[in-house]
Amino acid sequence: MKIAGISGSLRKKSMHRGILRTVAKHLSNKGIEFVAIEIADFPLYDQDLNDQGIPESVQKAHDLLVTADAIVLASPEYNYSISGVLKNALDWFSRIEDQGFNGKAVSIMGASPGLGTSRSQYDLRKVLVFLNAFVLNKPEVMIGQAKGKFDEDGNLTDERTIEFLDKALTSLINLSKQLKA
Ligand SMILES: Cc1cc2nc3c(=O)[nH]c(=O)nc-3n(C[C@H](O)[C@H](O)[C@H](O)COP(=O)(O)O)c2cc1C
Repeated sequence: MKIAGISGSLRKKSMHRGILRTVAKHLSNKGIEFVAIEIADFPLYDQDLNDQGIPESVQKAHDLLVTADAIVLASPEYNYSISGVLKNALDWFSRIEDQGFNGKAVSIMGASPGLGTSRSQYDLRKVLVFLNAFVLNKPEVMIGQAKGKFDEDGNLTDERTIEFLDKALTSLINLSKQLKA
């Protein structure tokens, strides 16, 4: 099994990049491969550009996505909704045949100083309906009051949250297996 992760924040010291580092560590302990998919180089979606072909950065990321059995989307909430860079990436991915999200289990994870990205997660779920992804219903990973749960470099340090992420990954792996059966 292979699990891909995408961060909806491009910031170097992003908490969401930190969440994906914790995810990678847990998966490694379970003997599961993790691949981080970078979306920072994607151009802004432009249908004229799309008509000329899928940009190389998008195609390369999508080629990796296709090889994954399940996906973790770790993203901040921006103005109560999906971060622009993540939405841009999903818009590009949705224009490629043999879509990387099709039929796959997805876990949405988010952290914020406030409500833990809960408002944006429901918008993201809606977008993932079109991509025919199967978003894990429980547990919802909404890390609220995140200050103090991450260090200055964006590493997740809160032990209870680290344990909780492990449980969420087990649920994601089980859902992925159910979908494949
Ligand atoms: C443009 C912008 C909009 C934001 N809107 C929200 C919001 O709606 N809800 C929230 O909880 N935090 C909001 N925040 C704060 C983010 O949760 C915070 O910046 C967080 O650290 C971003 O995640 P990152 O550490 O992965 O970059 C916003 C931040 C920015 C830059």
